Amino acid sequence: MALSEYFQPTKNGDTAFAVEAPKIKFGKGCLAEIGADARALGIKRAALYTDLRVTNLEPYSIVLKSLCDAGIDFAIFDEIEVEPTDRSFKVGIDFAQEGDFDGFISLGGGSTIDTAKASNLYATHPANFLNYVNAPIGKGFPVPGPLKPHIACPTTFGTASECTGIAIFDLLEMEAKTGIAHAALRPSLGILDPQSLLTLPTNVVAANAFDVFCHAVESFTARPYTHRRAPEIPSARPLSQGANPYSDIACIEAIRLIGANIVSGVKEPNLIENMEPLMFAGMLAGIGFGNAGCHVPHGMAYAVAGLVRNYQPKGWPSNHPMVPHGISVIVNAPAVFRFMGDACPNRHLRAAEALGVSIIDTTEQDANDLLADRIIALMRECDIPNGLKGVGYKEEDLPTLVEKSFPQRRLIENGPKKIDRKELEDIFRDAMQYW
Ligand SMILES: NC(=O)c1ccc[n+]([C@@H]2O[C@H](COP(=O)([O-])OP(=O)(O)OC[C@H]3O[C@@H](n4cnc5c(N)ncnc54)[C@H](O)[C@@H]3O)[C@@H](O)[C@H]2O)c1
Ligand SMILES: [Fe+2]
Repeated sequence: MALSEYFQPTKNGDTAFAVEAPKIKFGKGCLAEIGADARALGIKRAALYTDLRVTNLEPYSIVLKSLCDAGIDFAIFDEIEVEPTDRSFKVGIDFAQEGDFDGFISLGGGSTIDTAKASNLYATHPANFLNYVNAPIGKGFPVPGPLKPHIACPTTFGTASECTGIAIFDLLEMEAKTGIAHAALRPSLGILDPQSLLTLPTNVVAANAFDVFCHAVESFTARPYTHRRAPEIPSARPLSQGANPYSDIACIEAIRLIGANIVSGVKEPNLIENMEPLMFAGMLAGIGFGNAGCHVPHGMAYAVAGLVRNYQPKGWPSNHPMVPHGISVIVNAPAVFRFMGDACPNRHLRAAEALGVSIIDTTEQDANDLLADRIIALMRECDIPNGLKGVGYKEEDLPTLVEKSFPQRRLIENGPKKIDRKELEDIFRDAMQYW
């Protein structure tokens, strides 16, 4: 019997999927073990990356004490830009190149962890900045060898940056969100301590939870790995392989945990019982999308975040207008799932069910609406902006939004059905306003 009907073999399609599992430590209080973990990785002098807001929080004191107790020398870099840019990455890279570090520690959200990854990369293998940036914006050169050890300690739970080999930033001159993606960037260890989340502002919790949710649903409904052309050489198999039996298990449980905990987490983010399952969901979804890859909502989000004009979100101290990542993704999701539903209705139905929707007396034809309607209800409950108009876009922005997102081939082609520019524009139009 086949593993699942979804993974039927196809002519010239891949017949294998590869699993790259991140190294993770998860649990209340485990951040205090960081000194011992750094020693075990052979770190003697660390570059500690963190953002200014986090330096006022308890996890920062815990890390400092643990490193001191373990006799580890370190220097602190706290000039992280939230939703980083090439400009802020370069400041971090200069810091890494000037200090004599044999390891990296990052304490903060995805912005901090990604800045540390890029700093480690360019300090270890110096190169022109665009060399490692994803093509076609950059040259997409592979990383030539291993990086220095990096321990990532998230104080948010959405991005799963501690699980992935990806670093994302805004390239200012092109108004484009892009990134660097290579397995060598994956941190040597992720320390996930849910106690680090208890000071998160409620809007950041909402954005993170919806980001996790989209990682999980997109990976679960991605085109099956058997529908992607088999690579000519094994090492050319991409990180985004498409849905596969391994990522399915992580994703469906992540969707269930988000459905059960998102509202209470947004209402009372200071309770450990609310944040522990959300952080675990974030990690599971990270494992899922790290192997399967996200699809169209994330592809559209690059344009939604990159073209921002004057949207200033509540809860993010920022010196520039921005659409936070989780918001830039979820505003697209209902429209995408409505459009994609008929390509794999059973998977959309299972995702809706995992989210807590009763599917008794429903048919596969209902799948896309059931899922989209439940997401919209949760968006309203969690005070998420009302679609693209809610973050400042108008109908006349449609061609530019399409122009900026259609080239994100890695994501757009990973959806369960192919879309052309016109269909992408229709989806953006549908995402303008939901209620
Ligand atoms: N590398 C990846 O695989 C990956 C995946 C998805 C997104 N991203 C990127 O990650 C970035 C977003 O990261 P993020 O959402 O984790 O948040 P963030 O790092 O941008 O931080 C958001 C805000 O929360 C604050 N904050 C962080 N922890 C806190 C805490 N415990 N208590 C109070 N405030 C706290 C920060 O100071 C900041 O103001 C974006 O640039 C996005 O593109 C990366
Ligand atoms: Fe994401």
